[in-house]
Amino acid sequence: MFASTLPPAGCPPPVLPLSDLELRRLADAGWFVREGFLGASLAHEARAACVRLAEADGLRAAGIRRGAAHTVDRALRGDEAAWLDDHLDDPALRAVAAQFEALRGVVNEGAWLGLTELNLQVARYPGGGARYRRHLDAFPGSVNRVLTAIVYLNPAWQPEHGGRLALWTPGRPTVDPVLDRLVVFLSERVPHAVEPAWAERWAITGWFRKPDPAAPLL
Ligand code: OGA
Ligand code: MN
Repeated sequence: MFASTLPPAGCPPPVLPLSDLELRRLADAGWFVREGFLGASLAHEARAACVRLAEADGLRAAGIRRGAAHTVDRALRGDEAAWLDDHLDDPALRAVAAQFEALRGVVNEGAWLGLTELNLQVARYPGGGARYRRHLDAFPGSVNRVLTAIVYLNPAWQPEHGGRLALWTPGRPTVDPVLDRLVVFLSERVPHAVEPAWAERWAITGWFRKPDPAAPLL
């Protein structure tokens, strides 16, 4: 038996500026996909950190809506989630957060979105057909989430596991949640869903926001 099948731990790759194609896709269709966001070794380490989080009972059934309207409905949304901010003592999760911060930088440089804040969430779909029905991550016009970025952490994902991200953009594309694939879309513009997943499915999602112009000055 091999001692380990994982590649040796390494530094994540630099987060490259948005390419012309990525920028055009974001502007025209509202989304793009990029491979190799964390690098394979960090992606494996991040998944292991997420599994430890789940084993330590750190995940909670995810809800829909905010404030008083918040509710949990497993038929609408079947994942369990945790905010990454609460787990930045883990070196792999800290490194993941740094990659998302770097992404914020290159998106601001390339697309001039002026994103200032980032919230990161780990989500686990347990399998058994767990899904997240069609929704938007932000309501148009509200001061809110502007951009959604998701990195998938599933090294052995097969098409028959389902769990695709479906996007209501031209051509109705779908994205398989395979290890180290990043998908980026405009939170107010792109309705999307997670199709029923038949294997455990892990992802880390970042929501980038703009400052709230109505917020009181210091
Ligand atoms: C979400 C979401 C999609 C995915 O958490 O809001 O839509 O592919 N996730 O995990
Ligand atoms: Mn969503």
